[in-house]
Amino acid sequence: MRSVSIFAGSVYGNAQHVAEEVQTMLEEEGISSEVFTDPTTSDFTDAEAVLVITSTTGQGDIPPNLEFFHSELRDTFPLMDAKPFAVVGLGDSSYGDSYCGGGKQFFELLNELQGKAIGPLFEVDAMETLAPEEEVVPWVKANIDALTN
Ligand SMILES: Cc1cc2nc3c(=O)[nH]c(=O)nc-3n(C[C@H](O)[C@H](O)[C@H](O)COP(=O)(O)O)c2cc1C
Repeated sequence: MRSVSIFAGSVYGNAQHVAEEVQTMLEEEGISSEVFTDPTTSDFTDAEAVLVITSTTGQGDIPPNLEFFHSELRDTFPLMDAKPFAVVGLGDSSYGDSYCGGGKQFFELLNELQGKAIGPLFEVDAMETLAPEEEVVPWVKANIDALTN
């Protein structure tokens, strides 16, 4: 069975809610998935496909619940060998240069680990939408084959 591991970085729950909505959609499409909010490196290396859905906090920072995970990956550097991945960044463009910084950091790292990006970082701007899942769920759905084949 095809499967997607979803890594959700969230401070106030928006990105986590989006991750859960994506998981529901994937189940409806017959794809198994798990949402990780306190992941280990082995959750990452065990994944068939990686989907990071993360907000940004501070000034372009990764949410605390994924900070350790990100630094572990950077330190241990488990190469992905062209494993497919996608990154969704929830942010707010009123933060200027630090807009979607958390998503950008993950997108950069997974490229360095030699994963295969299925597309550019998908940015969702809180200035433009109050319901990020309405953008993210259809986007993931449209990219399921790239992510899971
Ligand atoms: C204290 C604070 C700092 C933030 N810093 C940034 C930032 O640097 N860049 C950005 O794009 N968004 C920033 N945001 C906006 C959040 O990323 C955005 O509201 C997101 O939807 C929150 O999702 P969450 O509930 O999953 O954490 C910040 C929000 C707060 C409250």
